[in-house]
Amino acid sequence: MAAGSNDIPVLRIAQITDTHLYADPDGRLLGLNTRVCLQQVVQLAARRHPGIAVATGDLSHDASPQAYRLLQGCFSELQVPVYCLPGNHDEGAALRAALAGGPCHSTGFLHTAGWQLVFVDSTVSGSDGGHIADSELQQLDSLLAQAAERPAVVWLHHQPVAIGSRWLDTMAVDNGAAFFQVIDRHPQVRAVVWGHVHQQFEQQRKQVALLASPSTCIQFLPGSEAFAIDPVPPGYRWLDLYSDGSVTTGVERLNTIPGRIDPAARGY
Ligand SMILES: [Fe+2]
Repeated sequence: MAAGSNDIPVLRIAQITDTHLYADPDGRLLGLNTRVCLQQVVQLAARRHPGIAVATGDLSHDASPQAYRLLQGCFSELQVPVYCLPGNHDEGAALRAALAGGPCHSTGFLHTAGWQLVFVDSTVSGSDGGHIADSELQQLDSLLAQAAERPAVVWLHHQPVAIGSRWLDTMAVDNGAAFFQVIDRHPQVRAVVWGHVHQQFEQQRKQVALLASPSTCIQFLPGSEAFAIDPVPPGYRWLDLYSDGSVTTGVERLNTIPGRIDPAARGY
């Protein structure tokens, strides 16, 4: 993952995930105003001057057009294109319709700065768990085959590997082996990045960095068997991509939690 110290990244990406906005601008998730949390994380991310952002799902909590409009307003502060994926709390068609225009884009892939970014929909209507449809796997395979000379990063909402938290791993991608069969055919893939788990996670699998990232609101306790909140501030992940195909990455968090988490919260 390390790049040469003299290299300058060709692209800096801010991954912003699990924003959980409501139609009501004062809507709260387990006590936190998700809109206020997102605004503060966006301000933090903007200080690093990313070239683009990727929003990896659960962008609204209630799948309402009003929530997506609020999201557009928050993301416009970044002043860069934001590539959006749906999560299990979103409704894909509503998300794509409401986010048309403005800073948000919904697309299957992007070629930029010599890299290919591939966006995979892992949502299943009516389910909190993830699955990658055969059509998505075929598209991933063919996009990677068509741009084999470009180093690639693959993005999705659900974790394609177990992260060691039993309750969250019941909602992982249920066909991760098929997903990695495709990834393994394309050695130019350098990272797979997801949201959903509301926590930082980093693991190396062959040449591929496996990365999950904090939510912009509530955090879940790593390694927990059952639902548990981690009382650490929200954040986002930055990724610097280099022309030699290397990636450096890290997580930045706010200094404090913006608000008070409901001490009676027992579920999500
Ligand atoms: Fe979420």
